[in-house]
Amino acid sequence: MLSHLLHLHGIHSVIVELRSRQHCEERIRAGVLEQGTVDMLRQSGVADRLEREGLFHHGIELGFHRQRHRIPMSELTCGKCVAVYGQHEVVKDLIAKRISGGGDVRFDCARFSIQNLEGPVPSVHFEQAGQSHELIADYIAGCDGFHGICRPAVPPGILQTFERIYPFGWLGILVEAAPSADELVYMHHDRGFALFSMRSPKLTRLYLQSKPDEDLTQWPDERIWDELFLRFDSADGWRPNRGPILQKSVTGMRSFVVEPMQFGKLFLAGDAAHIVPPTGAKGMNLAMADVAVLVEAFKSFYKENSTLALERYSSVCLRRVWKAQRFSWWMTSLLHRFEDHSGFDHRRQIAELDYVTSSRAAATALAENYVGLPMEL
Ligand code: PHB
Repeated sequence: MLSHLLHLHGIHSVIVELRSRQHCEERIRAGVLEQGTVDMLRQSGVADRLEREGLFHHGIELGFHRQRHRIPMSELTCGKCVAVYGQHEVVKDLIAKRISGGGDVRFDCARFSIQNLEGPVPSVHFEQAGQSHELIADYIAGCDGFHGICRPAVPPGILQTFERIYPFGWLGILVEAAPSADELVYMHHDRGFALFSMRSPKLTRLYLQSKPDEDLTQWPDERIWDELFLRFDSADGWRPNRGPILQKSVTGMRSFVVEPMQFGKLFLAGDAAHIVPPTGAKGMNLAMADVAVLVEAFKSFYKENSTLALERYSSVCLRRVWKAQRFSWWMTSLLHRFEDHSGFDHRRQIAELDYVTSSRAAATALAENYVGLPMEL
């Protein structure tokens, strides 16, 4: 997205990617696009397939005590909505756009390192097909994820990290079955959280709160379905449709922020700088918001010769990042089962679910965060 937007403003960039194109295009990741993310894709001309295949949602459901309650997000946010459209589909559309536009995208690279972050000409070294390469740049954008090389390339003592690791994970499955509801269902249950989501009119996506390192061999299909049906059990008889399980995975959950998101000529964006637990559906959207800020800053450098916006990049991003951290932590705390919870904590959690689903003010606070806080550029 960064490379695409820079290109639209006449700024040259090179993408160097560890993985193959196929890996990038097939790896199942997040699936919810905030209104602001949809707008960015639309305004930059990469939303054709999203318009056709994306599922636009105007509400979500929160369930507890066998009842589901709808939060009418669009009604509470002056018409904003979210789109359910896989992150890998966004990636596919963006790769196609960059490549057809003559972009320099290099897949299957290895042995990366970055140098001279404080000097006038930072550089990236890497190998591709056994050959070494060096790229000399004005700037480096570290969009290489939590496990990437960019954040660790900053000398010790400069970055401060803030982290919370949750004592649970999500066991996720992709199911070949039509979604049995039009909107996502976030279900609180004494046995643990469960989420009903989807990828298309033919694919259902389901998650169960599990141990962070849950052993998938202990989860044959039958056990997964039994557990899902227990947790989604609803007074009106609703339940997800059953079908062949196409994929199973376990994800750990953490909240993580690094400050500042910049060092010298290196700008960190997305998961390289921050991780949220998936409960608020914010991960990809935060990365998009970083990119929106970074593009404006590069524009101001290349068109107006000003580095002011680049200097402000980190502080502008972090204000919004921390609000998304707060929201993701709050959704996670609201919906999951915590082993150390007392009877008091449990009743407080139920009271909060009751409040959020019965007070327009509380539901509005959830809705405005869920559809995405404004991007402040
Ligand atoms: C998903 O469909 O993968 C998904 C949806 C909502 C979330 C997290 C994941 O909050």
